[in-house]
Amino acid sequence: MRQSLHCQGTFPRSKGVPMASRATPHQPTQRDLDRHLHRYARRTAGMTASEIRALFAVASRPEVVSLAGGMPYLSALPLDSLADGLAQMVMTDGMTALQYGSAQGTPELRERICEVMALEGIRAHPDDVTVTVGSQMALDMVTRIFCDPGDVVLAEAPSYVGALSTFASYQAQVVQVPMDDEGVIPAELDTTLRSLRAQGRTPKFFYTIPNFHNPAGVTLAVTRRAQLLQVCAEHRVLIVEDNPYGLLGFDGQIYPTMRSSDPDNVVYLGSFSKTFAPGLRTGWALAPHAVREKLVLAAESATLCPPTFTQFVVSRYLAQQDWKGQIKSYREAYRERRDAMLAALAQHLPPGCRWTHPAGGFYVWLTVPEGLDTKAMLPRAITHRVAYIPGTAFYAESGGGAGDRLMRLSFCYPTPERITEGVRRLAAVLERELELRRTFGNVHPRPVSGPQSPAPDTA
Ligand SMILES: Cc1ncc(COP(=O)(O)O)c(C=O)c1O
Repeated sequence: MRQSLHCQGTFPRSKGVPMASRATPHQPTQRDLDRHLHRYARRTAGMTASEIRALFAVASRPEVVSLAGGMPYLSALPLDSLADGLAQMVMTDGMTALQYGSAQGTPELRERICEVMALEGIRAHPDDVTVTVGSQMALDMVTRIFCDPGDVVLAEAPSYVGALSTFASYQAQVVQVPMDDEGVIPAELDTTLRSLRAQGRTPKFFYTIPNFHNPAGVTLAVTRRAQLLQVCAEHRVLIVEDNPYGLLGFDGQIYPTMRSSDPDNVVYLGSFSKTFAPGLRTGWALAPHAVREKLVLAAESATLCPPTFTQFVVSRYLAQQDWKGQIKSYREAYRERRDAMLAALAQHLPPGCRWTHPAGGFYVWLTVPEGLDTKAMLPRAITHRVAYIPGTAFYAESGGGAGDRLMRLSFCYPTPERITEGVRRLAAVLERELELRRTFGNVHPRPVSGPQSPAPDTA
């Protein structure tokens, strides 16, 4: 099970809980900390705070250069005209926009979503679209309608941490399939499926992020897309294609979606979080008709309906603003940041490091020299005022070394100057770790205990 980075501390004695004796102070148990512990459903055992969540509190201090979170660069948005449009929308459509709506989402937004998907070659009918509260909710619903406890779900190794937590929360067993610089390897998927079949196990679906992968930063080669479809068809495995970054190719390049080749065997997930704004929490699922019906029922039981208000905001934005121009400005901003990160990595990192070269999206996936452990190193990196996400967060099983030498670096949010400074600090931390290793061998020193206020940011 993944470990959180929550601090271990001493806890005040709960009222009414006797101390064993003065000589042997009461050691708080989990039950003391949560008196409802015996009530939780078994599935909550899979719900642990992710490394990302635990980190945000520390990494969001201004003196820390955070290369950890995947927050879009919203300063690129035209806030003035958005505000004007919003005020007008409340005046003209307020009575509907502030009312309950359909569980599937408003017809107007579903139509607009089909126009957005057409940019990636998807021909879809609005009836097959379900609007969700971010694509995270779509992931939750897909897992809810397909997975019983113990069912197998396939995902890439590494995979999006939010998807892994959803699968864990439904007690699914995640089997991860190796990737390389061209995305997931179809022959490995085939081998995994054969081996599962030999054990009498049939995965419920294969979850994949083909474009500008989170966290690996790679894109699935076009030839591999056809091979994947073929392997999945052969083994009768449904594909869940998660594509929030597809329109963020730095050269405006668009890759063929798997949904456009095989509409009956792919559930496609999209989102406005990266191309517009994540605070709107608007995403969608495009699914074969029968699956769509189950998704709508699941959505209804979760939220009654997705927020009508934000659906109106997004529809109006797509109808009246230059949203394609906005995506282009995002792409330019992210390309500049990607370039800054790649240049800084090449200039500052010690020999033995390698990293991916993303053609779009938000992330670089960094491998550090043998013997280093990115999770053990993280507190020391934060002390040096730089944060990242350790690779272990992106693997369902901890232990066995998966992700130990890896880290995700995000270039989406900080300015190019801050990115350069962050990488410079990271390089200093890596140099120090290597130096310690050369001196003491393969040990991971604990951070010094006690308060460690970071020095003021000089960047
Ligand atoms: C691959 C992937 N899928 C889904 C999501 C969730 O996005 P949303 O904001 O639409 O819920 C993210 C967010 O970072 C992501 O990276």
